[in-house]
Formats: sequence, C-alpha cells, structure tokens
Amino acid sequence: MKTVNVSLKDRSYQIIIKKNIFANIAAHHFSNYKKSKAIIITDKNVAKHYIKKFVSSFNKYKFDIQVIEILPGEKSKDLLVIKKVAEKLLKSNVKRNDIIYALGGGVVGDFSGFLASIILRGIKFIQVPTTLLSQVDSSVGGKTGVNTSTGKNLIGSFYQPTAVFIDPNTLKSLPQKEFMSGYSEVLKYSLINDKKFFYWLDLNSNKIISKNSKIMTEIINNCCIKKSIIVKKDEKELNHRMLLNLGHTFAHAIEKELKYKVKHGEAVSVGILMAIRLSILLNKTKHTNYNLIKSHLNKVNLPTSLICLNSKKKWNARSLIRNMLSDKKRVDKNIKFILLHDIGKAYIENSVSYEKIYLTIKEFFNE
Ligand SMILES: NC(=O)c1ccc[n+]([C@@H]2O[C@H](COP(=O)([O-])OP(=O)(O)OC[C@H]3O[C@@H](n4cnc5c(N)ncnc54)[C@H](O)[C@@H]3O)[C@@H](O)[C@H]2O)c1
Repeated sequence: MKTVNVSLKDRSYQIIIKKNIFANIAAHHFSNYKKSKAIIITDKNVAKHYIKKFVSSFNKYKFDIQVIEILPGEKSKDLLVIKKVAEKLLKSNVKRNDIIYALGGGVVGDFSGFLASIILRGIKFIQVPTTLLSQVDSSVGGKTGVNTSTGKNLIGSFYQPTAVFIDPNTLKSLPQKEFMSGYSEVLKYSLINDKKFFYWLDLNSNKIISKNSKIMTEIINNCCIKKSIIVKKDEKELNHRMLLNLGHTFAHAIEKELKYKVKHGEAVSVGILMAIRLSILLNKTKHTNYNLIKSHLNKVNLPTSLICLNSKKKWNARSLIRNMLSDKKRVDKNIKFILLHDIGKAYIENSVSYEKIYLTIKEFFNE
C-alpha cells in the first residue's frame, strides 16, 4: 500500500494506492462515517465491472447504500443531469453527513465532485478513480465541473475530496485506447519537472503498454506525489498549477476542431509535441529533445501528428488558432503556452506571435 498526502490545511486528504482496495474503502467508511449513507455514483461501463464487488464490500457492515448510475461519456457532464441526480438524492432524503463515492473515470469524478459541492451546500465526497487519467490526474486537486454549449468545464467549483482510493487493478478492464490516452498525462508530468522519470518511462515502454502492475503502481504513486506538490503550491491555478497544461493549449483547440470526437489524451500527445516544436522555434530548447519525445510517443503508439488523429480532415492552422483565441478561460488577448527549456524544465510563455503558432501547427499536417 502506498499513501500520498495532499496538504491543504483544513482540506488536506490522503491518496491511498492499493490493489483490491474496495474492502479498505468500506472499512474506512465504517471507522469514520458509521452513521452516514454511502452514495455511490458510477457509470454503466464501470458498474458492469465493479459495482457488485464495491457494494458487497460495504454490505458486510450493513450500511445504508444508494447506487446512482449515469451514462458513460461527456454528455453526462451536464447541468440537467446534475439536477436530475440532485433531485433523486433529495427525494431519497440525502443528509449533510452522507458521503458521495465517485467510482469511475474523470467524467464520474468531475460530475460527482461538482454535485457534492452544491447539494445541501456541500457534502463530503471520496474519489475512487478507475481510468489511468483519473488515477494520475483528475481525482486529485479538487477541480470539478460540467460542460456547457460554449465549452468544456465552464461551470464548476474547486472542491477537494476527503480521500482518494486508487486500485491499479481496475486498469485491467480499461480499453487499451482509453489507457494509452491517459498515459499522455503521465508523460506530461515527466516533461514538466522530472527528466529521470522520462528516461525511466522510456525504458519501461513495453511494460507500460502491457499495463504491468508493478510499473503502473509506481507510475500512479509518482504522478500523485507530483500533482499533490503542485496543488499544494497553487490550489486555484493562479500560476504554478498552469504547468499541468503542457500540450493542452494545442490539444483543446484540436478537440474543438474535431468536435470532441477524439480522445483527450491523444490530442494532448500531439499538443505536447507541438509545444516542443514551438519551444524550438523560440530558441528555448534543443531539437534532440523533440526527437526523444517523438520516439517515445511512437514506442507507446500515441499519435504524433494531426493526420494520425484524423486523416480525412482538411486541417487548417488558422482555424486552430481561432479555437485558441475563443477559449473562454483566456484572461487577455495573449495565448498562454507551457513550453520547455529542457525535458523536465517547463515554463509559462505568456506571449507568442500568431505567426510562430501558425508555423508550428503547419509542421503537423504531414508527419
Ligand atoms: N478535474 C480535473 O482536474 C480533470 C483533469 C483532467 C481531465 N478531467 C476530465 O476528465 C474527463 C475524462 O476522464 P477519463 O479519461 O477518465 O474518461 P471517462 O470518465 O469518460 O472514462 C473513459 C471510458 O472508460 C470507461 N471506464 C472507466 N473506468 C473503466 C474501467 N476500469 N474499466 C472499463 N471501462 C472503464 C468509462 O465508462 C468511459 O467509457 C473529462 O471530462 C475531462 O474534462 C478533469
């Protein structure tokens, strides 16, 4: 068992990483919340694999349990779905001391966290992430939210969970494409501030692809430590936490261009390479870094060009830049990028000319 502390004063919590963790979660509920109902929010795919096991570990203690299944995918991150589930909870007499368990990927986590932050003006919630992306990233740090017709995650809250329980074994049932998509976020951490971790990941590429249990536990632990340090420094993303957006300025524009019919992590993979290309164009980093990262992405079968993401689309650099400019979270007319001085040395670039962004994107039409 590995434990990571997220130190945020009165909002501090622990991340517990352990195989077959469900019994520990039920025991934790018994020790801390004996009189509270366990409200388990999950999606239908996750429920198919894990809900029986999860509920039976709770049944041993005869707690009051309520299971709520939402549809898998982004469409559930919607205010109308929040309202529907909130009303269901209120009708079943939810109490302020009840606990919401988010059993699933980032969608279930973002949805449940947001619901927990508003129902009865806030009840406790616990993350039980089951995708690689949610285990290394979204379950930690307290960003919650839903989508709107004007963009993703534009309504939400910073609301920390009271614990995060991670079972690396749940990755076994995760489709390979989802798994590798989540891996882009792992790679991102190494590029931000840990060169040694990058080389270690590269060395273990084959074990990563095959979801080697020991390697994955090590990766999840390492990423959770990294995220907890960043969140402790800058919980509300005022500066330092922005580094976690490496590759994301490009990725969000790509996702929008493809009407979100692309895996987030696959767009991040191309976005990361674009960020390195832009760093080279600005004379901030060496070309060898680009080659190293591209070769690693090839080893783990992640896309490295826009054509890999969608070969039928007529890609247009200006349209991607327009998407960046219409990003609702932008605070001024400059587009912010997270770029690299070196592998393991990311920094925030506040102002880049449109021409350089254009030239960078153009290089990804054919590769
Ligand atoms: N809050 C944050 O800080 C943060 C950070 C990054 C991303 N996000 C959000 O996370 C979401 C993406 O999360 P995701 O990549 O986990 O996607 P997801 O939650 O949609 O899960 C991907 C798919 O895998 C299925 N699934 C989940 N766990 C499974 C398992 N163990 N076995 C089999 N199938 C399983 C799900 O049903 C779904 O179909 C996006 O909405 C994004 O905005 C949030």
